[in-house]
Amino acid sequence: MYINFWYPIIRSEDLGEGKPEKVKVLGCNLVAFRDDEGNAHVLSDTCTHRGASLGGGWSLAGKPRIVNNCIVCPYHGWEFGGDGECKNIPSIGYGTKTPPRAKVDSYPVQEKYGIVFAFLGDEPEATRPPLLQIEEYGQPGWRANQVLVLEVDYYFERSIENGLDPAHNEFVHPTHGHSAINRDTYKVRPYETEDHRQGWGFWFMHEFDSPPLPQSDHITAGGQATPWGNTKTVSSNIFAGGGTYGPNIMPTYITITDDKMFRQYFFEQPVDENKTKIFFLNMRNFLLEPEKDGPIHARNKVIAGQDITLLVDLEPRLTPLSNTKEVLMPADKAIVAYRDWLAKFDDKGWRIDWNTFKARHGKDLMYAIPSPGRRTSGNWVLEAVPLFKNRAARKAADEA
Ligand code: FES
Ligand SMILES: [Fe+2]
Repeated sequence: MYINFWYPIIRSEDLGEGKPEKVKVLGCNLVAFRDDEGNAHVLSDTCTHRGASLGGGWSLAGKPRIVNNCIVCPYHGWEFGGDGECKNIPSIGYGTKTPPRAKVDSYPVQEKYGIVFAFLGDEPEATRPPLLQIEEYGQPGWRANQVLVLEVDYYFERSIENGLDPAHNEFVHPTHGHSAINRDTYKVRPYETEDHRQGWGFWFMHEFDSPPLPQSDHITAGGQATPWGNTKTVSSNIFAGGGTYGPNIMPTYITITDDKMFRQYFFEQPVDENKTKIFFLNMRNFLLEPEKDGPIHARNKVIAGQDITLLVDLEPRLTPLSNTKEVLMPADKAIVAYRDWLAKFDDKGWRIDWNTFKARHGKDLMYAIPSPGRRTSGNWVLEAVPLFKNRAARKAADEA
């Protein structure tokens, strides 16, 4: 798990006015709430007074949780603004100046694509990876399904790797590939990976043998634009493009015919090493009638369920640090490309040292994901999550 990327926190529609929501991401508790103007905020959830959960239970049901744009701690009523600063401590009198240590981490927020995203890290804005731009979102001729949230019991890296994997369709999804494999001719076609044009990841296009479609306008020739604007010559099969952006975002383009395309985006929220929440955005440029949303949603759920059944049993839970711990084939090239990108993020010093984190978090101390505010002020009560300095340090810890 990595700090310094944009993570989905909650669907916009699930974050109501006046009701904070507690969410666990990268092993740390966060609280999301809307201020009086409806702006979303994401803070570290642990009250720095005596450890209550800002988004947790409230014995005085009916009392407001958000007062004057502040979230009110349910224990002794401390009031924290969206900037993480404590504005009021009732025990010393409302309006009395609060000490500088009475603050919690506050994370930059963007609400886009029907999702509240938070930048979980302390990297300054100038060098921060931006949130993925979805060019077709909101454009005429495109329609987005309601974001589907899948809660799965496996590690997010395993989930991303599965989405990239061009060799599993025939075996896991009977409706996608040829379920009846021709043993004499079947092969995964070779493919190449290249850097994603928005940076921070890679992309590849892959040609699938697909069962014949009922439509007569199946792709016959011509160029399909990849996200970089270059083209590939296509034949009579389905083309799928996939890749990653940061450690936790996976776009997939599925080209059914020249002018019929699904573009799917997985925004993954790593909860801990055993749990992931996937925010699945499905875009399409055909079947634009709203009544098609339901069947598409249902079908996506069925397909995801086929993957989930299999992935809950993958072992080890985390992806191995060395590729030599598995037997990888040319079809696994995209998985290797993803792991190479993770190695780059390791070298930025952004990977959480999970074993150290787990040994102490919630026991004798609470860790928090460092927020940008830690670059400009000191006196933070919670310790920042432990990080590996680089890939070599991660390796050394793995071998120890
Ligand atoms: S623990 Fe939050 S106000 Fe006391
Ligand atoms: Fe799959």
